[in-house]
Order: sequence, then C-alpha cells, then structure tokens
Amino acid sequence: MYCIHMSTMSKMKTFRACQHLIKSLFNEQVFRTPLLRRGPGQRNYSAAKETFAVMYTEHGEPGKVLEGKILPLPDTVGPEEVFIRLLSAPVNPADINMIEGTYPVKPVLPTIVGNEGVGEVLEVGASVTTLRQGDWVLPDTPGWGTWREYAISPAKEFRKIPNDIPVASAAMLSVNPCTAYRMLTDFVDLQQGDTVVQNGANSAAGQAVIQIAAARKINTINIVRNRPEIENLKTQLKDLGATHVVTEEFCRTPAMKELLKSIPTPRLALNCVGGKSSTELMRLLANQGVMVTYGGMSKQPITVPTGVMIFKEIKLVGYWMTEWTNRNKGSPLRDKMFDDLCDLIRDCRMVPPPCQLTPLRNFQSAIAQSAEKFSGRKQLLQMNCISAD
Ligand SMILES: NC(=O)c1ccc[n+]([C@@H]2O[C@H](COP(=O)([O-])OP(=O)(O)OC[C@H]3O[C@@H](n4cnc5c(N)ncnc54)[C@H](OP(=O)(O)O)[C@@H]3O)[C@@H](O)[C@H]2O)c1
Repeated sequence: MYCIHMSTMSKMKTFRACQHLIKSLFNEQVFRTPLLRRGPGQRNYSAAKETFAVMYTEHGEPGKVLEGKILPLPDTVGPEEVFIRLLSAPVNPADINMIEGTYPVKPVLPTIVGNEGVGEVLEVGASVTTLRQGDWVLPDTPGWGTWREYAISPAKEFRKIPNDIPVASAAMLSVNPCTAYRMLTDFVDLQQGDTVVQNGANSAAGQAVIQIAAARKINTINIVRNRPEIENLKTQLKDLGATHVVTEEFCRTPAMKELLKSIPTPRLALNCVGGKSSTELMRLLANQGVMVTYGGMSKQPITVPTGVMIFKEIKLVGYWMTEWTNRNKGSPLRDKMFDDLCDLIRDCRMVPPPCQLTPLRNFQSAIAQSAEKFSGRKQLLQMNCISAD
C-alpha cells in the first residue's frame, strides 16, 4: 500500500516539479508494467487469458456482498472491440451507493463494480479507427465496471484521453473534476473576483472546485467538519488555492460575518452534505444566489429557511454528472471540458486528492478505509502493477 500526500506537491507548484513527482510516483514506480511482446497473429498481452474482477450478485453492505472472481476472457478481440488493461480506479461514494442499491443507476446483476477509472488499450479490433494501442481510455458508460484487470469491450464504450498526465489524475478525472467544472460553469456567470461557498470542501469534488476556481481567479469559502489537526487540513486546502477554510461551527459565529466582509458575498453555493450544513450555505448566499446540490453525505434532508428563500430570492437546483454526460455525449462542450481539465493537470494547477493506493485484490481493505471519518484520503485501487515476487 502506498500513501501519497498531494499537499507536498501543491507546495511545489511554483517549481513545476510536482508534476514530475506525481508522474514518477504513480506512473513509473506503481503502475510500471512488463513490456508488451507481440508475435504475428498473437494477442499483445498473451498472459491475459482471464481477469480478476470485483463483483456482486445482490445489493447490500459492500463488506458482505462483494466477491473477487476470476473470469475468462474471450480468445479473440472482435472487429469493433478493444482489449483494455485497467490501470487504476477510485472508490467513490457513488460506487458504494450502487452496491448498496441506493443509487439511481441500477445495473443488471451480477455485475462488476466501478464507475470510474483509466485503462490502456492493448489491442484494437480490425474495424476500430478511433483508438490505437497505447491510448488511455475512460469508460463512457456509468457502471461499466472498472474494478477489474482486463476487459474486451466495444470501442464505442470508451473515451480517449491524453496519456501524458499522471495515472491518478486520469483515473479520477471523469467524476469529480468534471462535476466541479460544470458546477462552476453552468449555473452562475461567475467573473474574476466573485465568490463561491461550498461545504464538504475537503472531498475530492471540493478540492477540484478549489483548484478550478483558483485558476479562474474566483474566491472560495470552504466549509469542512472540525477535526483533530484541523490546521493541517486548512493548510492543505489553502495550498490548493482556497481563499478561506472554516469549520461548520465557525460559520455560525459573528467572526464569520467579519470574514465575509473581506470578499464579495457568494453568488454560488455548492452543497454535497445536506442537513444543517446546507441551511448554513443558503444563509451565506447573496440575493438571487444559486445553491447547487450534488451530494448528500450527511444523509439528512435539505431544510430551506422560508425568509431566505423569499426575501433573498435564492434558487435551489440539483446537478448530476451522469445526466449531463448523457445529454452531452458528442458535444464540443464536453471535449472542451476534458481539454481544459487536462491542461490544468499538465500545468500542475490541478492535482488529485491525497490518496492511498491499494492493490485491486485487497479491495475489501480499500472499501473499509473509504468509510472512515476524516480519512482525508481517496482510496485508489491499482491494477496490473508489478508484484513483489
Ligand atoms: N451529483 C454528481 O454528479 C456528483 C458527482 C461527483 C460527486 N458527487 C457526490 O459528491 C460527494 C463527494 O464525493 P467525493 O468523491 O468528492 O467524496 P470523497 O472524496 O470520498 O469525500 C467525502 C466527503 O464527504 C464528507 N462526509 C462524509 N460523511 C459526512 C457526513 N456524515 N456529514 C458531512 N460530511 C461528510 C467527508 O468529510 P470528512 O473529511 O469530514 O469525513 C468528505 O469531505 C458525494 O456525495 C458524491 O456522491 C456527486
């Protein structure tokens, strides 16, 4: 298991050395794989006749219902298909909800776990023109099943991404950075110097919001739960570009009113917590501000103060990346979003959240750790790394 703290890297931003560090840690040491050998008519990676995959046959607690299985792979790659080696996949809240059966995407069971992750194309079918060996791809269908080592699937199920960014950034690109990008782009016409307020600000989504906003010179007020060593978390988020980092408790004090005087009143609030935390966000909004709800980590409903709703004329909207993607599959807006995000990553203006790398076959340990309060790390499953033996 490896643990990478991205705050170290964000401190190195000015030296543009963090990119090199991430690449060397993730791409070269952890994800280095044996060289491909190919003879005439042979599949590139001849050892892969089967694949390990994490599956479930019924909904329930992930610790109880998930099983690691060895599945056979087809002998041939069909004309429209590609042979993929998965590199890395995160454990996201949506994966857990999907296993539990509480997510709106309902896969046909049994199914392979994993909505997000990056793979490398090892071989393409005779009719495939959009992808080549060595390309990196993201599955373009929710619930595709990234928690496996290999797959042979139709080429049209994947989106090609640049393979010159760190594997960790690629593996965690399609959900949280895209969500952050859309929420900062689509709801309020934000200008340089405007302010956005968000709760759950240390989540992977929150960290993406901080970094994209900083790149656009937008202020962020970032609300987190109080914890031991809160100062370390504040420093970590400020290193990413956060303007202010405050606790939920601080928001309800007169000191918060003073802090708000230092920057424009927020026109956009981003809510991934719900409950009292979201009520507080609404109180912080400017007149005619918008609160976008995209998560419900507290599992508590949103309670709207009537006076705030009426007299501030605020708007409450929901956002779901999956639905946006369905509506924008071939749209130039989507291409621009991926291009912009990859540019930020290459410039080291967007680093992935701190993460703990765990071999795929130890998925149960990653699941257990993803449920820990204040863990501060995204669990990142790694496939096909060189084993110690
Ligand atoms: N709508 C969409 O399209 C979309 C897209 C992406 C993400 N999301 C949602 O956004 C949320 C964050 O996702 P992520 O991948 O960024 O998560 P993550 O990196 O795993 O972080 C989880 C966050 O939730 C906080 N949290 C956990 N339990 C909480 C509770 N009971 N009360 C308050 N905060 C709690 C954690 O705070 P602590 O550090 O204090 O534990 C942490 O900030 C999830 O709800 C996810 O489903 C939605």
